[in-house]
Amino acid sequence: MTKRKTAEEFRSHRWYGARDLRSFGHRSRTKQQGFDDADFTGKPVIGVVNTWSDMNPCHAHFRQRAEEVKRGIWQAGGFPVELPAMSLGEPFVKPTTMLYRNFLAMEVEELLRSHPIDAAVLMGGCDKTTPAMLMAAASMNIPAIFMPAGPMLRGHWGGETLGSGSDVWKYWAELRAGNITETDWQEIENGIARSPGHCMTMGTASTMTSAAEALGLTLPGAASIPASDSNHARLATQSGRRAVEIAWADLKPSDILTPAAFDNALAVVMAIGGSTNSVVHLVAMARRAGIDLPLAKFDDAARAVPLLADIRPAGRFLMEDFYYAGGLRGLMTRIAGSLNLAASTVNGRTLGENIAGAKVFHDDVIRPLDNPVSSEPTTAVLTGSLAPDGCVIKPIAADPKLLRHTGPAVVFRDYNDMAARIDSDDLAVTADSVLVLQNAGPVGGPGMPEWGQLPIPKKLLKEGVRDMVRISDARMSGTSYGTCVLHVAPESFVGGPLGLVRDGDRITLDVPGRRLDLDIDPAERERRRAAWTPPKPHYPRGYGRLFSGHVTQADKGCDFDFLEADGEVPEPEIH
Ligand code: FES
Repeated sequence: MTKRKTAEEFRSHRWYGARDLRSFGHRSRTKQQGFDDADFTGKPVIGVVNTWSDMNPCHAHFRQRAEEVKRGIWQAGGFPVELPAMSLGEPFVKPTTMLYRNFLAMEVEELLRSHPIDAAVLMGGCDKTTPAMLMAAASMNIPAIFMPAGPMLRGHWGGETLGSGSDVWKYWAELRAGNITETDWQEIENGIARSPGHCMTMGTASTMTSAAEALGLTLPGAASIPASDSNHARLATQSGRRAVEIAWADLKPSDILTPAAFDNALAVVMAIGGSTNSVVHLVAMARRAGIDLPLAKFDDAARAVPLLADIRPAGRFLMEDFYYAGGLRGLMTRIAGSLNLAASTVNGRTLGENIAGAKVFHDDVIRPLDNPVSSEPTTAVLTGSLAPDGCVIKPIAADPKLLRHTGPAVVFRDYNDMAARIDSDDLAVTADSVLVLQNAGPVGGPGMPEWGQLPIPKKLLKEGVRDMVRISDARMSGTSYGTCVLHVAPESFVGGPLGLVRDGDRITLDVPGRRLDLDIDPAERERRRAAWTPPKPHYPRGYGRLFSGHVTQADKGCDFDFLEADGEVPEPEIH
């Protein structure tokens, strides 16, 4: 290990190393916990930021893993301190975890800043925890390593494997259509989530932990190890050891988060068929790192890199199968020609060195380049009169017949309106209709909830319809599928054209042409715009008001404008 720092140069030295009244307090209060001078003197203090809680089943193993991380920190001569942070368990946090991604990013950044932390192990995995922690790491810019939670084991029901989310949507539709029974549904509930770990489909969690590895912020291979595999416990200890080394080496996120690293992340997201949510998160992370990542880059990456990982919802297998097939290192060898192999990573080696010698063991799970899962791109970015600042669609998850489609709009003014009317026999809807959900964006949702996979109206389900064109300024769960146009910007709640659509307007979706248009006379559109009045704000006070006042639009990553701002935040005074 190359040592660039001396112990006196650590941030923690300002707390522990001085001989004054305040440092007396820091030392005596550390000793209050049973530690000795030998435990912390002259050592880097490593923050273990843990997003464990009883309300996050994806992180159920994190109390144990934190101990394993600490074991590695002790082994390498560091002083571990655990700092709990908001857990953001995707199934339980309402109205949506996305409302709190920036909250966690702020919390982690300020936890690191306000305490005597020299380097950090960031423990996350459930959807928003990964981007939030990496946004914090980019802004705080002290040495940091990400320790992903790992996917849970495959689900099981009646001889079938079940995938998180994807099979819930699938069998919910079958239940509503009368094709499975309540007893079947109960058995699915009992069998779909069998171990700790995040969703084991290629949802947002698997996408973002894979992106973190491609960015170079985890140890090699980290993102693919199932949470309950003993390799995962060893990964925790190795991450702890490495955190001590990067503290001494002063290897910071800014050394790793380069434009080349983000290009690698985009290539990997396309090859794994990653969630559309990754677009918002990667844009936000890049902007924190001072890197411009326009939406067009995602479209370019999707055209260049085909979908190779045959994982649900776009494919057949699950993350456990992906791990046995060679995992992300194996997959990266297949797209090595599209990667910047010289990019630096947190273990001190290049990405190319980290994937050297990796193998693919099952070609049906990780396909070769000449036999991709789909000829459609993973992500397409569209613009047009309905989305002047852009929107996204996941063509690999859509019915190919709908990728070019013109139809009459059926408009829902918000989620409650949609929930109240979608299954009504009176709803004037056919399979050719275009379902439009308004006021579901960053400010309007609020928090841009995952409502973008609008349910197919029950009467059409009974006729056998399983996909339709759906358009919203919301996001969609990475485990979802369908012809869903998402992230329309600017959103309807702040005056975007999506808010001007009325029942019966013709809408044209042209994915090959990368267009989304509202086919009405421009003069009529301007008349409607002049008559539009902003909806009442959701929050009179509190965090929601802060969020609504400062969140940016989807094409800018939905960060807070004041968190993106340039300028160095001073180190805290110690008085
Ligand atoms: Fe945590 Fe899906 S619920 S990753």
